[in-house]
Amino acid sequence: MADTRVNFCGVTFKNPLAAASAEPTLNAANMKKCIDAGAGAVIAKTMTDSSDMRELTQRAKWRFLNEKHEVCRGKVPRGFSLYSRSGLALEPPDDFMKEITQTVKYADENDAVVIGSIASTNIDGWVTLGKQMEDGGVPLVELNFGCPHPKLMPGVRTGMNVGQDFEYACEITQKVTDTLDVPIIIKVTPQVTDLVLFSDMLHKAGAQAVTLTNRFIGFVPDIETGKPLIYGKAGVGGPWTKPLTLRWINEVRAALGDKLYITGTNGAYDWRDTVMFIMSGAHIVQMCSAVMCYGYDWLTKQVTGLENFMDEKGYETIDQMLGLATDACLEYAQMPHEKAAVDADLCKNCGMCLKACFSNAMQQDQKNVFVERENCVGCGGCYSVCPVRGTIKMEKV
Ligand SMILES: Cc1cc2nc3c(=O)[nH]c(=O)nc-3n(C[C@H](O)[C@H](O)[C@H](O)COP(=O)(O)O)c2cc1C
Repeated sequence: MADTRVNFCGVTFKNPLAAASAEPTLNAANMKKCIDAGAGAVIAKTMTDSSDMRELTQRAKWRFLNEKHEVCRGKVPRGFSLYSRSGLALEPPDDFMKEITQTVKYADENDAVVIGSIASTNIDGWVTLGKQMEDGGVPLVELNFGCPHPKLMPGVRTGMNVGQDFEYACEITQKVTDTLDVPIIIKVTPQVTDLVLFSDMLHKAGAQAVTLTNRFIGFVPDIETGKPLIYGKAGVGGPWTKPLTLRWINEVRAALGDKLYITGTNGAYDWRDTVMFIMSGAHIVQMCSAVMCYGYDWLTKQVTGLENFMDEKGYETIDQMLGLATDACLEYAQMPHEKAAVDADLCKNCGMCLKACFSNAMQQDQKNVFVERENCVGCGGCYSVCPVRGTIKMEKV
């Protein structure tokens, strides 16, 4: 059977699936459920010294939305959005650490890893919270520079407010990594212009890993009432964010290679997505929204799915898949020219390809659809819309 173990910052994980920091990891009882479900790791809900961020969790609200961005009732589609507002861990640090130490013990007994997550509003606070986590026995600490909500809370200088200020973020990272012995992971916001530059700066400031990425801020009106869903702005994400996240994983992996470990989050729905994250360059894949929708045993199914995929494809280790697609990613100028070709025997003359061609290459005479090769730029629009598989082929020229 495939070996799903991963080395992440010198710590061995039994598999690359992690429960992301959120309500499924709110306390020891919840984290135990993630461990029982077979997750390789749990990232605890972010511990904070900000009373505003703790209080926000008392008023947490979320809705699963369908493709029209209406609230789902019952069946949640594969392409859902999770529109949500929640703060950070409910208990103040001294109390939350009791949840952590209990979970660390349980994780040790069950071959799982607990990652501590922290967020402060001042530099000394980041160091103090990090030290508390380290003393509590966690082997890794994630600094949450990605939480979107402080951006909407005047005067709360944490989460994304830090992640958008690269110099300040690096100052914190430097201080924390100078003080702590355990490796530090930085969870970043996607709402910046250049995560490759930022990841490189964080690496130079002492971070051993980055978590790409936290969620976006969104706004969704209810057209029946003319009011926003759940009273106002909220974090937004879901499986549809995956290509946006993978783009950054691809670019950070390509630029920094083995210098920096990567954990991926924001759009991983199932084991297929997990494989995509790994093939883009993520060592560990964190899941939140899908677990919040389907429950803890969703994690169990994804671990099994990953094992089966690896066995079927003959991948013996996670390392054999790591960054595969990023290594194969061509520069624009290297990409080959192609032209479409139509198999007249299979073509049903439905005309879909004519509507999707903007080069005047797909043409139709009295009998057949054919390709005016000189006009064809090989975009592949016709190939995508043709309903009869095998009718249109894209040929390299
Ligand atoms: C309700 C909710 C609460 C969250 N709380 C935290 C948190 O406390 N700390 C944190 O780092 N990320 C938090 N996140 C972000 C998740 O950890 C995760 O990175 C994000 O949801 C993207 O992953 P997904 O696409 O699997 O949902 C939260 C997300 C949601 C939806």
